[in-house]
Amino acid sequence: MPKLLFLFFFFFLFLVRPYHASADFIRQPSRPLVFTPHNRPDSHPQQVHVSLVGNNYMKVSWVTAGSGVSSTVEYGKIPGKYESSATGEHTSYRYFMYSSGKIHHVTIGPLAPATMYYYRCGGAGPEFNFRTPHATFPIEFAVAGDLGQTEWTSSTLEHINASDYDILLLPGDLSYADAQQPLWDSFGRLVEPYASRRPWMVTEGNHEQEIFPLIYPKGFKAYNSRWPMPYKESGSESNLYYSFDAVGTHVIMLGSYADFNTDSNQYKWLANDLAKIDRSRTPWVVVLLHAPWYNSNLAHQGEGESMRIAMEEMLYNSRVDVVFAGHVHAYERFTRVYDNNADPCGPIHITIGDGGNREGLAMLYKEPTPSISLYREASFGHGRLRILNNTHAHWSWNRNDDSVSVVADGIWLESLSSSSSCFPPQIHPKTELASKKDEL
Ligand SMILES: *[C@@H]1O[C@H](CO)[C@@H](O)[C@H](O)[C@H]1NC(C)=O
Ligand SMILES: *[C@@H]1O[C@H](CO)[C@@H](O)[C@H](O)[C@H]1NC(C)=O
Ligand SMILES: [Fe+2]
Repeated sequence: MPKLLFLFFFFFLFLVRPYHASADFIRQPSRPLVFTPHNRPDSHPQQVHVSLVGNNYMKVSWVTAGSGVSSTVEYGKIPGKYESSATGEHTSYRYFMYSSGKIHHVTIGPLAPATMYYYRCGGAGPEFNFRTPHATFPIEFAVAGDLGQTEWTSSTLEHINASDYDILLLPGDLSYADAQQPLWDSFGRLVEPYASRRPWMVTEGNHEQEIFPLIYPKGFKAYNSRWPMPYKESGSESNLYYSFDAVGTHVIMLGSYADFNTDSNQYKWLANDLAKIDRSRTPWVVVLLHAPWYNSNLAHQGEGESMRIAMEEMLYNSRVDVVFAGHVHAYERFTRVYDNNADPCGPIHITIGDGGNREGLAMLYKEPTPSISLYREASFGHGRLRILNNTHAHWSWNRNDDSVSVVADGIWLESLSSSSSCFPPQIHPKTELASKKDEL
């Protein structure tokens, strides 16, 4: 037993916080943790959230403290009248002394687009509702990374909820539980009022890893049990990377903490996934990942570099429109780039790791501002990507200005698939580019 306790202390002190306090950046004071208690009967659902599964289906996930509850969701288009029901699966996990509740996952559908559904989980407890995404443009994505569960998080979530959107995209770092498993439950309860209303599509950050050498060498126990995404539907073998379509947008969720080198499963999967994109069906392609490939903040410098070197050429050759990253607790928008240079056919890179976690902001930047970085600011906030049609989208960043949401940055985007000079792509292998650079 003392040995186990020692391991615990070792874990908390050194292992679960690998990227925290490094001497070369200072963060704005974070706000207090919000612990969201369990205040429903044990058989009632808690931590309800929904995610998209293929076209026209939604996965409803929730936790019950009681194990006798069945994994059934009743749903319909009228409050209190559930004309359909579906039964799914359940799981649970242990992490050292912690045992999770019963974690239910039920896929419901087919569902009509842009429609409110009312639903109840496990035959008891409150009624929830969600609205399915639209079937045609426009579609609006809310984007927020590195959420955590502080008072900043609460106000960011209120801002996200205050105007209507279809789908939330989260580029990693959800609960900041950092191996303290009850904080995963608290996070689930904090986000339930929002994540039960709109699909939340997430990918993993470093705070989801929860790797413990020898005992939990692969990590991601809580994350994979609680936040399963539709990876099988996109041909992926891992919940750590997957893709899905929403209206005319193909969204690719990459895994910064899964192998990404050229001989990895993720790399092969990505090559396949990109090759299958049909731009006449999904003119827009958006990628999310955690550790940014472009970053002029002093925090986390270079952490995304090996992934960029492995995968950037593929994304460039597929004319990906936007790459969203998290990890750095600040906002930064780059111009279209490829291989560290401005390039009209490259993706726009946006860091949006400023949801509001307990570590506070990453305040210090490289000086002078690199020419490819067009807007950078260390404030909390969230983003909105409103795709209007095949050719035009609007991006805005909403600063969380002492709990008031203020639009601070906004630009119009034109899809690369509608650009005659970028599409269809002329493939320039890196080697060719490099030799051209040498000539200059
Ligand atoms: C989110 O917005 C909806 C619609 O305006 C509102 O009914 C709901 O109460 C809001 N949720 C929270 C938790 O503020
Ligand atoms: C797409 O939306 C933009 C912005 O609203 C508009 O200017 C443009 O005309 C639209 N294109 C089409 C084909 O409707
Ligand atoms: Fe992170």
